[in-house]
This record gives sequence, C-alpha cells and structure tokens, in this order.
Amino acid sequence: MGGKEEKGLQTQWWKIDTEKPQEQYIRRAAEIIREGGLVAFPTETVYGLGAHAFLPQALKRIFSAKGRPQDNPLILHVAAVEEVKDLAADIPLKAQVLMERFWPGPLTLILKKLPHIPAEVTAGLETVALRMPEHKTALALIKEAGVPLAAPSANRSGYPSPTMAEHVYADLNGRIEAILDSGPTGLGLESTILDVTQETPVILRPGGVTREEITETVGEVIAAESKSLESQEIPKAPGMKYKHYSPKAEVILIEGKVETILQAAAKISEGLRKEGKRVGLLFTEDVWRQAKEETPVSGDYQKSIGERENLASVAHNIYRELRQCDEYGLDVVLTETYISEGLGSALMDRLLKSAEHKVVKV
Ligand code: TXA
Ligand code: MG
Repeated sequence: MGGKEEKGLQTQWWKIDTEKPQEQYIRRAAEIIREGGLVAFPTETVYGLGAHAFLPQALKRIFSAKGRPQDNPLILHVAAVEEVKDLAADIPLKAQVLMERFWPGPLTLILKKLPHIPAEVTAGLETVALRMPEHKTALALIKEAGVPLAAPSANRSGYPSPTMAEHVYADLNGRIEAILDSGPTGLGLESTILDVTQETPVILRPGGVTREEITETVGEVIAAESKSLESQEIPKAPGMKYKHYSPKAEVILIEGKVETILQAAAKISEGLRKEGKRVGLLFTEDVWRQAKEETPVSGDYQKSIGERENLASVAHNIYRELRQCDEYGLDVVLTETYISEGLGSALMDRLLKSAEHKVVKV
C-alpha cells in the first residue's frame, strides 16, 4: 500500500460555521460526493473521509487515499434513525433503544446488512456498521448528499485519527477533493463500536459512549479486550488487528502513582537523551504538579494534556499532541496510563495500541 496512488488533486479547504453550515459549501461538497469524489468532514469524534455509500468506485478511492487494507470495512453515516431500516436486515429491540438514547452521537452499531450494500463497505461481511453523528456540519452534508456516507477516519492508515482539518490536510492533501473545516472536534477519540447482532451486545471498540452507559441502557455487555497484536485471535472488528493510532515516534507508557511518574520519566528521558534521542513528555496536570525544583524533568518537548479528573480533556488533546510530537521530530514520547473505566477505557485502548503495549510500571 501507499505511494502508488495519485496525489494530483487540488484539495479544496472550506471553513464551515458549525452552527450554521454555509449552504454554498455544503452544496458543492454534496455534489462532489454524488459524483464519486471524497470529502473530509468533521464529526463530534474525529474527522471522517466521506464517500457515496453506493458507488463502488468512490469507495475504492477511500482505500487508496488512506492506504487502507481492503479487508477493513467502513462505517455508514446516516442523518436520521429512520434510514437504518433501509440498510439493516434486522433491528433488534436493544438496537432501537440504544439509537433512541445515544443517536445522534458517538455510538456505532453493527447490524445484519441488507443485500444491496456494496461489498466495499462491509469487506464481504454479513454485517454493516451504522452511526448517526451529532456534528451539524456532518449532518448537513449527509442530508444534502441524500445518501449515507461511508466514512473511515480521515487519516493515512495507521496514523492517529485527525481531530483538526490541518491533520486531514497533512495526511490527504492531493488525494481528496475537499475538506470541510469546522475546527477541532469535540471528543477527540472515535465512536464506540457495539455489535448488537447477538443477544448480549459486544463492544468491539471502546469509544465516546461508555460501557457503563450502555449497561445502564440495555443490561449486560461483553467488552472485547484490547490485546497486543501478536496475542489477538481473529479480531471481531477487522480493523483492530492493524497497527493503529501510532505516531512515527515510539510511544512508551508509564504506569504508577502521580507522585512517582515524573521521577521515572526523568530517568528514562535522561537515558534516552544520552543516546541522542529526542524525547517528548505528555503528562496530565496532576503529574506536572509533582515537579519539584530539585528534580527538573527535561524533555525536548513538554506538554500538559489535561487532567485526570477530566478524562475528556485528555481524550480531546491526545491525538493532536501525538501528531505534534512528530512535527517536532521527536524519537520517543513518554506518557501516562489511565484507569480503564468510563472514557478511560477508550483512551487506554488507543494508548496501548499506539505504544504497541510498551508499559513501564513504576
Ligand atoms: O468515530 C468514528 O467512528 C469515526 C468517525 C469518522 O465516524 N470513524 C472511524 O472509522 O473511526 P474507522 O474506519 O477509522 O474505524 C471503523 C472501525 C474499523 O476498525 C472497522 O474494522 C470496524 O469499524 N468495522 C466497520 N464495519 C464493521 C463490521 N461490519 N463489523 C465489525 N467491525 C466493523
Ligand atoms: Mg480509523
């Protein structure tokens, strides 16, 4: 993959007012979609790369623009709950209840597909992934296009998902027709993927809607655990077997009490810098607060990425900061781990993958 596909397009970049998406841009973007082109658009989670759900040629272009493996299926984005009956063969009661509570929002449901859905969307599976995003720009585009949009995250495959139009441009300039720029996305991590084809729903990817919220709504759920690539059997969400969310820099997670993390980081950083490596330090305020004058921690880039009490702040910042570390040409990024509950589950899932499960316990 990669390298071979064309980069010759003139990518249009339009600033869109989220509260009142300008009609002229939404209309032009919808036209591009209907003609088989690719448009990146914001959602409340991350930016998506949209194509017409029923045009195989357009769908194929998503895979080549991203350098995405062909066997990784796409999520269809709809603008209304009613559209689901035209896409799914069966809508179990639990799915209906979940849609009612969490749509529009960061919950993707896996349902049995109807036969007319192209194989390029489902990668040959009997199921289809459906989600109604909450972002007004996304909803305006889907409505105007008049068809569901197949849309993966708008990054080059394997790289952290884009939370800003600038990230999309850096990855896909020249490969797609247009970018709708509504500024940074809110959540900053992808949607939860929930398989509701079985009696007990299975979380295939933790995300913006938490396990706790799902349990509260429909009872017991199974959480497919985040495992290292080597130890994973056949993954349920095909995309989860690939290297993911990884900046070019090596990511190392430090697990420990807030009081000890910074000291450990200082030691590791010192060792790495002696080897000539450039080191980035991404920690929460809670950890930075432990900094004492007598133990100065030095990295080549240091940043506060939020607060432990407010994991939404960390989720919002993490992909941007990982990309920033690459911008600065860092070799290694040291960052901390989080409690695996609520939004912390999604955060840890992404961090473990970007670190390829390298965790230093202190
Ligand atoms: O928040 C999000 O979900 C973003 C925004 C743009 O909506 N989209 C997103 O798409 O993260 P993508 O393609 O990067 O991740 C979709 C994941 C992949 O791991 C894929 O394998 C899985 O969903 N998936 C899609 N269809 C599936 C299906 N029928 N069965 C199981 N997993 C599926
Ligand atoms: Mg993705």
